[in-house]
Amino acid sequence: MKTKQRVALVTGANKGIGFEVARQLMRERFHVFLGARDEKAGRAAAEKLNKESGPSASDLVTGRKDQSGSDSLVTFLMIDISKPGSIKRAAEEFGNQSDRLDALVNNAGIALDDDKDALTTTPEIFETTLRTNTLGALLVSQAFVPFLKKSDAPRIVNVSSGGGQLADGADGWAPAYCISKTALNGVTVQLAAALPNLAVNSVCPGWVRTDMGGSNATRSVAEGASGIVWLACEAPQSLTGKFVKDRKVIPW
Ligand SMILES: NC(=O)c1ccc[n+]([C@@H]2O[C@H](COP(=O)([O-])OP(=O)(O)OC[C@H]3O[C@@H](n4cnc5c(N)ncnc54)[C@H](OP(=O)(O)O)[C@@H]3O)[C@@H](O)[C@H]2O)c1
Repeated sequence: MKTKQRVALVTGANKGIGFEVARQLMRERFHVFLGARDEKAGRAAAEKLNKESGPSASDLVTGRKDQSGSDSLVTFLMIDISKPGSIKRAAEEFGNQSDRLDALVNNAGIALDDDKDALTTTPEIFETTLRTNTLGALLVSQAFVPFLKKSDAPRIVNVSSGGGQLADGADGWAPAYCISKTALNGVTVQLAAALPNLAVNSVCPGWVRTDMGGSNATRSVAEGASGIVWLACEAPQSLTGKFVKDRKVIPW
């Protein structure tokens, strides 16, 4: 695929916030690689979005196409971000289909704490959570940087959480999850320093109604995805190494 259509990869995009980010980027006419660790769920999600991606009524009237002249498209990409071998295979598969990546959204995440606090969390919960939420985002970024470097306006968006915000959020709730997001914010700062020509930011989507956020959460997936999509394609390219919520920089 050698086109000017912008290209995005969203991890953990078979459901929840990631699925909605993929949908909104598709509507922005990105070619979206929909990352998922479960092949059946990932293919079904990509198919659902591709069914939605037909030309809009206004496009039919104006005959509008995207920059490449083709319709937007969503492609499933198998990627388990907790497994280095899976990340490597995903980057190879991606490279067979695209030579460039414009936006990487490290969205995939887990929360395993249940009612555990800092005194009762287990090595298994702690290691598994950090391997996914923190190390996973770092390793995926490393694997896809060669493609991002071919973009005119490359961006990495790390989906973090207010729970990882030392200034306000870390109050003893879900320690492994919150520490993993504090550390993810550290990954953001380090990547931003290592990649001066990329925009690398953390974002808090707010409390969102998903399997993770639960039904009492205050925001819809569309509201939660909106700030992520803004960082992935609209925010100033000069905005980097920051923690962002609702399109505003917030303290770490
Ligand atoms: N919901 C909230 O209120 C909220 C608030 C702040 C931050 N966030 C963050 O937003 C992101 C998305 O959360 P969500 O609410 O949409 O959660 P969700 O509905 O539970 O979705 C999580 C997604 O991540 C995927 N995933 C988990 N581990 C993975 C792995 N090893 N490899 C690849 N994919 C993996 C899941 O895949 P499976 O379906 O295969 O499990 C699923 O697609 C997370 O990083 C979360 O921490 C959420």
